[in-house]
Amino acid sequence: MPVTISRVIQALEPSATIAMSTKAKELKAAGKTVYDLSVGEPDFTTPKHICQAAVEAMEAGHTHYTAASGIPELKRSVAQQYQQQHGLEYAPSQVVVSNGAKHSVHNVCAVLLDPGDEVIIPAPYWVSYAELVKLTGAIPVIVQTRQEDNFKLNAEQFRAAITDKTKMLLLCSPSNPTGSMYSPEELGELADVVIEHDLLVLADEIYDRLVYPGHKFASFPTVRPGLAERTAVINGVSKTYAMTGWRIGWTLSPVGMAKAMGSLQSQETSNPCSISQYAAIAAIEGPQQCVDEMLVEFTKRREFVIRRIGQIPGISCAEMGGAFYAYINIAEHLGRPYNGTQIDNSHQWCMELLAQQNVATVMGSAFGTEGYFRAAFATSMETLEAAFDRIEEFLAG
Ligand SMILES: Cc1ncc(COP(=O)(O)O)c(C=O)c1O
Repeated sequence: MPVTISRVIQALEPSATIAMSTKAKELKAAGKTVYDLSVGEPDFTTPKHICQAAVEAMEAGHTHYTAASGIPELKRSVAQQYQQQHGLEYAPSQVVVSNGAKHSVHNVCAVLLDPGDEVIIPAPYWVSYAELVKLTGAIPVIVQTRQEDNFKLNAEQFRAAITDKTKMLLLCSPSNPTGSMYSPEELGELADVVIEHDLLVLADEIYDRLVYPGHKFASFPTVRPGLAERTAVINGVSKTYAMTGWRIGWTLSPVGMAKAMGSLQSQETSNPCSISQYAAIAAIEGPQQCVDEMLVEFTKRREFVIRRIGQIPGISCAEMGGAFYAYINIAEHLGRPYNGTQIDNSHQWCMELLAQQNVATVMGSAFGTEGYFRAAFATSMETLEAAFDRIEEFLAG
């Protein structure tokens, strides 16, 4: 019998960010110098004290299966840190540790969604959301937001998208790919609609510590009473502590949801890596100076990127309150030839930028909007300078 891939997986789009960064890596392996702004990964190495904790965990024999939903010490640590930062109390039993925040998004979708359920996702959205919703048979309902609104969903747009099939709202603040961040008041207005229509919320807060001066982060369940009963908060160590390869993320959710996700993990992955879990405790409970130092660097890069975007004719971006992405409007530069090659959309634009200038970025179409590209500034200033010189030259061509 010929191999036939299931319909659900055939319909799955592979991650465009990973595809672009793989392409960049292939070009590098072929000897080319590539200026890689494609992947959302801090370029810093994981702080030493965290690596040391992993070594100690191995030496102490923590190299076996753990509880499916994570070791109790890490769950306690996550709940305590959340309480200290946001003032809301979660029991350790409400924490489910996973193999990264992406896995947590999948867990939440898998335990909450049935075929035909609708999930409201404001666009531009992180590449994996719509695909992970579709994997369950549920329907992503994409609501376009506007650059002039800093790409934030407002209560009116949210209400207009709700039907009797709507089950969940998916929010990401600070946002990948736009860096935009909802104020506590804006979250409160969305929360009122959530409560009014008895909906659930997936709040992806993976960039909660990467917030720039002048901006204030609020965790979704804290903005109205009772929201913790209908929200799954997602976070992890990948971005905050430069630990993308360690694969540790988590959810804070109502107990019933946590139990369901624990059962799912027990059948699916057994447990997140034991050694990484001990390293994550060191990250959360250890000195936080490394987070501050990384933020200082990201702040300088953000300022540089904003300045360069302002200097290049016909491009613009919304205000980045957090994360390390600029979502750059190139609509004025589409529909014309570049060095003889006609470019009509963001996909062609990014592919041609890579081919002509060796700069890797990600096309806006992967995030559900046309006329934009995403530049991650989680890379060195030298790379950013060279990349923006080349982007400017490309746009002038
Ligand atoms: C918004 C958002 N959520 C989740 C993730 C996944 O994080 P992790 O590496 O912990 O799976 C990312 C990574 O790019 C992200 O940008």
